[in-house]
Amino acid sequence: MFTRAIVRKIGKKIVNGLTTANLGLPDYDTALRQHNDYIEALKKCGVTVTVLDPDEQYPDSTFVEDTAIVTERCAVISNPGAPSRNGEIVHMKEVLREFYPQLEQIQFPGTLDGGDVLQVDNHFYIGVSERTNHEGAEQLAAILEKYDYTSTLVPLKDYLHLKTGIAYLGNSDLVVAGEFSEHEVFHEFHKIYVDADEEYAANCIRVNDYVILPQGYEKTAKKISDAGYSLIELPMTEFRKLDGGLSCLSLRF
Ligand code: GLY
Repeated sequence: MFTRAIVRKIGKKIVNGLTTANLGLPDYDTALRQHNDYIEALKKCGVTVTVLDPDEQYPDSTFVEDTAIVTERCAVISNPGAPSRNGEIVHMKEVLREFYPQLEQIQFPGTLDGGDVLQVDNHFYIGVSERTNHEGAEQLAAILEKYDYTSTLVPLKDYLHLKTGIAYLGNSDLVVAGEFSEHEVFHEFHKIYVDADEEYAANCIRVNDYVILPQGYEKTAKKISDAGYSLIELPMTEFRKLDGGLSCLSLRF
């Protein structure tokens, strides 16, 4: 059960965010509406939402998930691998101290983005990606071990982040796309396969009684609904333009 979430309102500078998507610039007003819908959806899931002010210094700072790993037993401040995003952790550290008096932290030369970390009960999958290096992943694994969590490192081939192509819904149900569809590390799960033309929908989130899914991915929505989950579908077009998904927009704990 999640009781809390942290989000950060978008700033006008969001149009300058990092992207490889080639889908054009996001529209600020539309993104603001979509972000408000996201906050309302979290509330509908029964979560108390802390809404941080926009941080115009960091265009990507609405993607708060990359700044920390929050668990029942500990929180770890990350060390984002994109130089333009690294300073986002400074304020998040202050914010998280309210909820976690003792914070762990990934240190250089290790880098790590929270989007590369997938929790499955007491086990963590840690993507080694363009943003998360091997050193950062090993540091996180060592920190988690102190709290009796186990972990597996997963080198990525194509995706920006691990959670770009995978989501855990609970009950052994794993939503998988692309390079994770037949990945040996995930062989023991029950897979919900996302078709290549709906790849973006693999970044969905289970929040208590609901699975929140991007709007417009009907095949994936049906598969998840058929697996017994109640859906909330949200427009995400503007965040997609910035390589951002549903998980990226909050820290949930
Ligand atoms: N635009 C989100 C990221 O690249 O981290």
